[in-house]
Amino acid sequence: MNKQSNCSCDVLIIGGGSAGLRAAIEAHDAGANVLIISKSKRGDPHTTLARGGINAALGTMDPDDNWVVHAADTLREGEFIADYERVEILCKNAPDAINELVNWGARFHREKDGRLTQRFFGAHTYRRTVFYEDWTGQEIVRVLMEQVNQRNIKIIDNVYITKLLKSKDYVNEERGPPPLPPAPQPASLTSWKTTAATYKQHEQEEEQVRGAFGIDLENKEFVTFECKSLILAAGGYTRVYAVSSSRIFENYGEGIALAYEAGIDLVDMEMVQFHPTGMVWPDQAVGTLATEAIRGEGGILLNSNGERFMKNYDPERMELGPRDVVARANYNEIISGRGTEHGGVWLDVTHLRKEVIQERLTTMYEQFQKLDGIDISKEKMEVGPTAHYSMGGIVVDINCRTRVKGLFAVGEVISQIHGANRLGGNSLLDTVVFGKIAGGEAAGFANELKRESEETGAGLSQPARTSNTNNNDQKEKLDINLDLFSLKEPIKFRNEIQELMKLNAGIIREQVMLENGLKRILELKNEFYFNSNKNNNINSKEFKIDDDNSENIILSWHVKCSLITCEAIIRSALMRQESRGAHYRSDFPRLDDERWKVNIYCRKEKKEVSADADATAAEEMILFKQNVKGIKGSLADFIKSHVKAAHHRTFE
Ligand code: FUM
Repeated sequence: MNKQSNCSCDVLIIGGGSAGLRAAIEAHDAGANVLIISKSKRGDPHTTLARGGINAALGTMDPDDNWVVHAADTLREGEFIADYERVEILCKNAPDAINELVNWGARFHREKDGRLTQRFFGAHTYRRTVFYEDWTGQEIVRVLMEQVNQRNIKIIDNVYITKLLKSKDYVNEERGPPPLPPAPQPASLTSWKTTAATYKQHEQEEEQVRGAFGIDLENKEFVTFECKSLILAAGGYTRVYAVSSSRIFENYGEGIALAYEAGIDLVDMEMVQFHPTGMVWPDQAVGTLATEAIRGEGGILLNSNGERFMKNYDPERMELGPRDVVARANYNEIISGRGTEHGGVWLDVTHLRKEVIQERLTTMYEQFQKLDGIDISKEKMEVGPTAHYSMGGIVVDINCRTRVKGLFAVGEVISQIHGANRLGGNSLLDTVVFGKIAGGEAAGFANELKRESEETGAGLSQPARTSNTNNNDQKEKLDINLDLFSLKEPIKFRNEIQELMKLNAGIIREQVMLENGLKRILELKNEFYFNSNKNNNINSKEFKIDDDNSENIILSWHVKCSLITCEAIIRSALMRQESRGAHYRSDFPRLDDERWKVNIYCRKEKKEVSADADATAAEEMILFKQNVKGIKGSLADFIKSHVKAAHHRTFE
């Protein structure tokens, strides 16, 4: 086998975006030794693409705003399947999070009298989106990186983590080798399962996280990281769609796959947000975000007849309606033959003053000039829906804890904060609010292990923890199957998956299309696991990573993550027989609170695959639903007295 490196730390963070960075700062300040692993270049995570702003009920422009209204907006537009306690945490902590960023040097836009400017974003009751021109995510990453650097927190970039390590992955000579994992079995192509009506609480695991294994592309070597606690901040899964606002190397559900393989449930996976306005041409720019800030600053949508069509879909809020409504409206105009030459609709700011465009929509002005060759102050933009955000994700509790001891998660990889449809500007907020919580919790866990270790003298109190110390304990050795793959033509796989997701599980869904999509995903899964890897020895001890094979291994890893993620998206979308937020079923166009005010969970479970004596336990994805918990307290009172029931969200 290749050269293999080992690193150890107290808190290991997978992901160098704003969630991971904010968590790192908190964990460091709580006394932990922190290491951040990032697959993209440091300072250039997906967060930098978050454009338009970050929300907080500061009331600088609209003094009636407060956290309760912000929380009610978030829950209402998420069509009431978000967890209200998380929404409360998000909105109550928002003003402090903004002040912290300001104190750290974030250059948010201000009014002449010094107040922070807040602009409208879709479906907010008040102006509450704070911004830096139209590259707010980049500005937040800049200040967080400054804080990380000041603290000398180490970042290793260009590393792809492909496995989370738990205590069972270590052979203890006294305990003997760990049990073999179940042998993979071909997926059944005919059945999809909705096993139980109610959620089976998944018990806390006895296993403990121990670290992560991955590929260091810089040094062309496998690398193992050992830690006392781990925070997964590895992003979302919208790149499994052909048209996406994510870059080509990110958001294939890497964090989803890592967690699922480690035995953590997924929830709300059918909830994929399509942003109404991505670029539709030229080819290399398709999907690239045209920020909601364009509409926040007064941009309007027109079809090819010059009609301001939003009056037919959301006459009250027009272009500033909820994202799911505006995205479906755009889509409907396009497929009804009222689209533009390149298959989009028009987004027009030519009525705005050029100075406003240049000052507040700076990168959009440059982006369209560079990629589309137009001056947006004089010409209209062509835009259409693009897969933008994953509301679904892995299950954590309100303190960002997973069921695996010592394993935490934060950012787009988790769920139940945004429900069925996220409000623009709430994702940057969620990364910093919950990043802080995750960092504090993970440091607390690691510190507790250290304290126990000190109390008991050498090593930690339980055998399962001994090699968490960097003590070269010879009793324990890592013993894992690398589970890596190297397909001959990974791009062919990837492209087929992306196209089939767009076609079969896209912005408008329907039973037969979903079933066809699932059938093909399962066929691809069989091909991936049973045919493609036969002739390479990637998991053998002699295998060496080099310039020729590393790209294929990473692309194949993306395919593996996509297959897990897409199976979960489609199974959940099939199960939810209604339309809610971003999940629109043309065969069930109405919201159905009676049957479907639930969260849908996906779980990896063992199954008996054969009746004969050699029956092998294999794994399958099974689904559960659980009722959303009732909202309580002042938020419940406010919603009862002020919030109208679900909006009209169909085309009927
Ligand atoms: O359109 C945007 O600027 C996106 C913001 C967000 O998704 O929060």
